[in-house]
This record gives sequence, C-alpha cells and structure tokens, in this order.
Amino acid sequence: MLVLCIETSCDETSAALVRDGRQILSNIVASQIDVHARYGGVVPELASRKHLEAIPLVIDEALRVADCTLADVEGLALTRGPGLIGALLVGLSTGKALALARAIPAVGVHHIEGHILAPLLETKLEFPFLALAVSGGHTHLYRVDGIGSYTTLGRTLDDAVGEAFDKVAKLLGLGYPGGAKIDALASEGDPDAIRFPRPLLHKANLNFSFSGIKTAVLNYVKGLGHEPGPEELRDIAAGFQAAVVEVLGSKAFKAAEQQRLTQIVVAGGVACNSGLRRHFAELADLHGCRVVFPSPALCGDNAAMLGVAGDFYLRRGDACQADMNAVSNWPMDNI
Ligand code: KG4
Ligand code: ZN
Repeated sequence: MLVLCIETSCDETSAALVRDGRQILSNIVASQIDVHARYGGVVPELASRKHLEAIPLVIDEALRVADCTLADVEGLALTRGPGLIGALLVGLSTGKALALARAIPAVGVHHIEGHILAPLLETKLEFPFLALAVSGGHTHLYRVDGIGSYTTLGRTLDDAVGEAFDKVAKLLGLGYPGGAKIDALASEGDPDAIRFPRPLLHKANLNFSFSGIKTAVLNYVKGLGHEPGPEELRDIAAGFQAAVVEVLGSKAFKAAEQQRLTQIVVAGGVACNSGLRRHFAELADLHGCRVVFPSPALCGDNAAMLGVAGDFYLRRGDACQADMNAVSNWPMDNI
C-alpha cells in the first residue's frame, strides 16, 4: 500500500511517501527554524501560516522524489496530535481534503507513536519493547506491546528534556533551537568539571524532572558574576548534558528491567544527541540489552515516521470520518 504521510505538529512541514509501512520513497522536511529563531521559540500563529504556505510545495516535492502522482496514493497518514492546534489543522485539513477528493481512506496518527515506531522503517524489531520518547514536548517511557498498544510507565513532571536543552541554550546565549548547539559544545567540554543535580535519579518511580537542572545552570551562571567565556560554556554544556543523560539512562534501564524487556527504542529530536547515544550504548553492553536509535533524519519531526502506524491502521480499515479533529493534548494510552 502506498501511503502519503503528512506531519505539521510544530515547526516542520513534512510530507512522505511510504510503501507497505516499511519502504521510504521520499521524506521531505521544510523547517521553519529561521522564522522562529528571532523570537527565541516557536510562535504558534506564525507556524500555522508558514505550514499553509509550504504544504502544497512539500507534498508536490514528496510525490516528485518518489516518482509518483496523487493517483498512485492509496491512503493517507496524518498527524492528528499532540502539537500546536493551528499547525496540526493545516496538515490534517489538507490530508482530509485529498482523501475526500480521491475517495481514499485517511487515518490520524499520534505524533509520538510516529516517533517511537520510526526505527521499524530501518530495522527489524520484535514486540514488546521499551520506548523512551525524548522531544521538545515529551519525555515519556512506554511499554510497546504492538502498534496501537502503549502503556505509559513514566513521564516528566515538568519540562520535557528538549525544552530543557532549548532553555539552557537560551540562557547561555546560544540561540534557538539549542539541543544540537549544546551537544556540539558539550563534546569539547569536561562533563565532570561542574556537577549539576540529577533530579529523581534515586526515586523508585520512573518519572523525570528537568526544570531543577535548568535552574541549577541558571544559578551557576549568575554565580559566576560574568558572562561565561568559551571554555566555561563548554564545561557548562558538558555538565548539563551529562546530568540529563545519566537520568535518562538510569530510568530507561530501570524500566526495562522492571518490565523484563531487552529492547529499548530511543526516539524523538533529542535522540540525535551524541552523548545520549554513547551513554545508552555503554549501558546496553552492561545490561545485555539491545538499544535502537533511528538514524538522525528519522529522529526529528518528519512525515515518514507516520508510515508504520498509518499502514497498519489503514489495512485494518480504520479510515477516519470526515469530521476527525486535531487533538492538541492526547495521551498515548488506549489510542
Ligand atoms: O521531535 P522533535 O524534532 O520535535 C518535537 O516533537 O518536539 O524534537 C525537537 C527537540 C528540540 O528541543 C531540540 O533542541 C532537540 O529536539 N534536539 C536535540 C538535539 N537535536 C535536536 N537535543 C539534544 N541534542 C541534540 N543533538
Ligand atoms: Zn516530534
């Protein structure tokens, strides 16, 4: 089945053609980062307007790269939520209009479901597995028993980890978005030079908290009494990243052990982080687990990641009704 996937939940307009929930024929991502960077974060109204401009071009390009036309498309997979409501509505309305015009089925897919199933586009993975979703809006641990069968085991109680990276980058004057910039700086710094707190590390539950680490960085910078120089910036970034990565690793492997799972998927934009990848590889060796990270192009927001669940739901006959609405806040349990 040839599925056109559309993702517009935040600040990336993306369309992809995926065959049989496995083979990516195209995956076009138009980023709005330049538009939002000057405001230090995503401006929802601007995001919606930019999606509206970009969506026809991105879909055209996805069809061109896949060497097919709309007439070849057999179904649509659309991000239904969670995300910015105006942004979601652009992709959802476009997809529903195409489905109606072509008399083909469309299904709504959960954005995080897309992220955690992305590795299935690249590798074989048996259910059940543990998934750690780390993005700008999510830091969640799920038990995944199959497509559509997710149990939340833990979640952040305050900031998402990507949000913490972005806020720390902002207070260090690195600009938006900051995750990749902190990652690059951290690779040149000393992770042991400054020890930031590891919130909830020794708590028995599987929840996270990142706002305290961010405040500790703020207080450290204030305490310096001067703008941090290049070397100080590198050590702050390395110390912050080390704290975050240690907490993520500890909770994820604790969850895997509790659930008796030996495969861990790490997905979402923050899964690009090189320190996180290194730490999880070390822990995997130690615990005898298999850790799977999607390739970087499938970590950040992209439409192809919707193809796995989209194909599954379409084959099952789950076509949405014409009045399917976007959902800005949508828990993953019992999708
Ligand atoms: O999944 P994603 O593209 O969008 C959301 O669904 O939120 O994740 C975006 C987040 C941003 O907070 C960004 O700073 C972070 O992923 N990110 C990183 C890295 N690359 C992107 N965080 C840490 N290290 C990176 N290399
Ligand atoms: Zn995302």
